[in-house]
Amino acid sequence: MNGCTITGMGTALPDRVVRNEELTALFDTSDQWIRERSGIVTRRVAAGPLATEPLPPHVPGGLGTTGRLAVEAGRRALSAAGVTPDRIDLLILCTTSPDQQVPANSAAVSAALGVRGGAMDLNAACAGFTYGLVTAGGLLGAGARHVLLIGAETLTRITDWSDRSSAFLFGDGAGAAVVSSVPGEGCLLGWDLGVDGSLVDLLYTDHGAGMVMKGQEVFRRAVRVTVDSAVASLERAKVTADQIALFVPHQANIRIMETVATKLGIPTDRMASVIAETGNTSSASIPLALAGAVAAGRLSDGDLVLLAGFGAGMTWASVVWRWQATD
Ligand code: COA
Repeated sequence: MNGCTITGMGTALPDRVVRNEELTALFDTSDQWIRERSGIVTRRVAAGPLATEPLPPHVPGGLGTTGRLAVEAGRRALSAAGVTPDRIDLLILCTTSPDQQVPANSAAVSAALGVRGGAMDLNAACAGFTYGLVTAGGLLGAGARHVLLIGAETLTRITDWSDRSSAFLFGDGAGAAVVSSVPGEGCLLGWDLGVDGSLVDLLYTDHGAGMVMKGQEVFRRAVRVTVDSAVASLERAKVTADQIALFVPHQANIRIMETVATKLGIPTDRMASVIAETGNTSSASIPLALAGAVAAGRLSDGDLVLLAGFGAGMTWASVVWRWQATD
């Protein structure tokens, strides 16, 4: 079995920045309340009442906003990795907000990128990218050479803008990684995947409707499952939390992120955080935070990274990863 490593990353965000203050035009809230309860200051928005431009008319088989963000992030990741699209064996598009119901969003994205291998969507909500990384690792171990893994979302299209208890949380964006096979053990040292489908009604979106969320219950469960999953991954990797150089949690709420870090015994200055600028971007949040930390020079060759996501389902996933610097 081969191992795997990340050979390049890329991100993409819509241009429109929406500050907390602008949300007061939609519902009774304040910048101070949102900052204190969630850590969010701005988010990027492509759809909904605060978008600058209306979503382009639907073109069957074409790319909507999720697809376009995915293509931009994917192209940047391919370029950073120095891998041409024809060498990608599988494109995994992690999304909970695809442009169309059928076919999978990854089909149009692979055509736009020129990927000739397989392509599939993966919906594990906000745990999507971490689920995808484990899936990519398995496939690369079984003989694939390169997997393009993308998390891309247009959550503002399914946000209920009349619900002040959830609408301030969400934003749009995409993050991507080229994951490539390497001889030997590689970088995926430990992982854990899980779901508890009896908790579907904590967070869901019906066809044509807005997101429904039981915020406090999600908060409580999220802390518990993320900590348990992270501990399982650390044990599998045979490392301890104090060896983790960078903790990259799903960017849902700074209070959830800090509570999980503290329970794990990881100092919060070792946590990657982009939530203040992006809000919760679901599948895109972990690659956006990881790419941000890499761009800021926070990772050195050999550093151990803990990725941990949770989301609707309720799903959870974590990974212990050894960072390998690329040229
Ligand atoms: N602005 C101002 N006040 C608001 C508000 C807003 N946008 N939204 C709710 N409130 C009010 C509530 O009505 C309530 O008022 P009351 O005490 O008079 O009834 C008060 O603020 C407290 O509400 P509560 O729901 O207890 O707040 P909270 O501390 O639980 O924070 C969340 C709310 C949504 C930030 C928090 O529950 C959370 O982050 N949950 C997890 C969400 C999540 O991560 N979802 C994605 C999972 S992938």
